[in-house]
Parts: sequence; C-alpha cells; structure tokens
Amino acid sequence: MILFGGSFDPPHRAHISLVEKAFFSLSPKKIILVPAYKAPFKNEHFSPFRHRKKMLKLLLAGSPAAKVSRVSDFENKRRKRVYTFQLVNDFSKKLKGGKIFFLMGSDSLNSFAEWKKPEKILAKASLLVGRRQGYEKAEKPAPGEKPVFLKGIFPDISSTELRKKLFSGDFSVLEPELGGYVRKHGLYNYRLTAGIKKLLSRKRFAHVCGTARLAFELALAHGLDPAAAAAAAMLHDSAKELPIKKQIALALRSGFSIKNRREVFKKAPGLIHQWAGAALAAERFGVKDGETLKAIAAHASAYENMSKLAKLMYVSDFAGYDRKFKESGETRKLAFKSLDGAYARTLGLKKARLKKENKWIYE
Ligand SMILES: [Fe+2]
Ligand SMILES: [Fe+2]
Repeated sequence: MILFGGSFDPPHRAHISLVEKAFFSLSPKKIILVPAYKAPFKNEHFSPFRHRKKMLKLLLAGSPAAKVSRVSDFENKRRKRVYTFQLVNDFSKKLKGGKIFFLMGSDSLNSFAEWKKPEKILAKASLLVGRRQGYEKAEKPAPGEKPVFLKGIFPDISSTELRKKLFSGDFSVLEPELGGYVRKHGLYNYRLTAGIKKLLSRKRFAHVCGTARLAFELALAHGLDPAAAAAAAMLHDSAKELPIKKQIALALRSGFSIKNRREVFKKAPGLIHQWAGAALAAERFGVKDGETLKAIAAHASAYENMSKLAKLMYVSDFAGYDRKFKESGETRKLAFKSLDGAYARTLGLKKARLKKENKWIYE
C-alpha cells in the first residue's frame, strides 16, 4: 500500500505524476491519498476539505492509477491535524502486516528528521521519494533505512506558489480539469476577482492583482489571514473608475465619517474612492468584516492608530508587485521585516511627494 499525504490546496500535476510513477514502479494494490485536515483558523483555511477531496478526484479521474487510488477522509473525520506517524500507525494496523510506503517529494525529505517522531514512521513504513526539480539531492537524508527513490525528476510545482497566484487573480495556473470546479464554487476568492475584473480597466486590474499578491505574502509573514488580506487588496480600488458623483454617493453611505468632508471633496477628490470602495465592498461584494472595510477606507489617506491589516493594505498599495519605482521595491523588502517600518516609510514618502507637488494634505 502507498500512502500519500498533503494539503492538496490545490492539487496539481506534480502530485498526479508522483502517484502515477509510484503506481507503475511498485504496482501497489492500493494508493491512499490523505488530504490534511486544516483547522479553520490561523492562515490555514484556503479550500475546505470537501473541495480539496473533490479536486483530487477530478485530477485523478483520467489517470491509469485511478483504479487502485482512493482519497481518504482519515484526517477530516478526526477534525484535527494528524501527524504522519499516527497516520502510518493507523493504516499499518488496518493492513495487518502488509508493506506500507509513504510517498513524498524530495523537498519534504529535507525536513523529514524534524517531523514528529520520524523513527515511528520508519518503524512501520518505507519512504518512497520522487525527486523534485531543484531538490534532486536531499540535503539531509532521512535517518535509518534508505528511502526508495522513484526514477525521474518531477515538475517543480508547489501548491504554495499556486495559491499566491490564485489569490492575486491568476486562475490560468489551475490544472484545466479544476477550472470549472473552482469557478463554480468560488474557491480562492474566484467570485470576488471575477467581479473586480469587470469593474476595472486592464491596467488597474493588474495593479490590484500586484497589490493582492503582496498583501497575501505579507499576511503570511505577519500572522494575518492571507485570503482576507488578498480580498481587501482586490477590492481596494473597486470604486476608482466610477464617475465622481457615484463615488461621492457611495462614500456618503459607507458608514465612515469623513473628516473635513467638504474640503476633501474639493481639494482631494482622489481620496473619495477609498470610502466609496468600502461601500462597494459591503454592498456589491457582501463583505461584512469591519476590519477589512476599514482597511479599504483608509488605503489612500491613512489615519491615526491604523490596525495591522490597514497598515498592510496601505503598504501593499504603494509597494505591490506591479509598482516599478525604486522606493516601492525597497519598501516591499522592508515590509517583510517590519510592517510598522514600511508603513512609516510609505507615509513619509507619500507626504513628501504631496508637499513637493504643493498639494493639500489630508490629516
Ligand atoms: Fe486607491
Ligand atoms: Fe491602489
């Protein structure tokens, strides 16, 4: 029996090629794919279990390995993250003495010694490893028995990288078999992204995607919810291309009090879209989270005592991956080390620019 655990969020071609190679090399009676359960908190909820399970099935459907493969509910039934040694132990009991191979990519082999109780895994199973591009040689070979290596090199696709692309608006990276499913269920902020794309010019859509990518990465780095940060970024300029009258109407019903409103409307109309964007996020896109709406409503002007998410949003707008000026690259780098530092820097740079251009500053 071959066991293959992973987050599969989303599953992709490299997962399937590993399974197929293992199938042809070992002719196992069973291949069990075990999607990890994810706690619905802390940077972990991207696609719920049932969707990841279904996506895996869709991808496996055309494979010759499908006839011996099964996607297991093992972790989901327990409603908690299960360690590999527990998984292997449980399946070994069920199998009553049959041989178990635990399938993994060579990238995971590097960290295997740091897994929980690796000796217990090796007592019940042999490691079956596919070499992944960039990780052809394991830096730290697994302790104990030598792993069995599958022939060939497997494509360097990672779910982590795919997620960054999906949450920043690029759905072309999905395996074609999964596109329809992801759209239908609005996974990875799909519905939001499609709605925003309709509202914006091509150039501005590229800007919000670049902003969303940075917001997603910064949220991961600083312990915020990356999907929510990417959504805020996707929405932040949603009202920017509306006629100014519409923007004003939206801003007035946004629920945010606009300090020095008359002056703002006259001297800094470029700011109105931030409050209008928050209203649009709530009205058209159904956003209910107050922190997200606040972050959108402050992304251009900032205000005192900004929340962590609002700072992240403010910095991502200025230093997103679509921005090509020198200060944006430097600020982006700094933001991964210090969000407060990057926020102060952005604030300073924006104010200095307004002063230089003799423009009114909203404070
Ligand atoms: Fe904006
Ligand atoms: Fe923007």
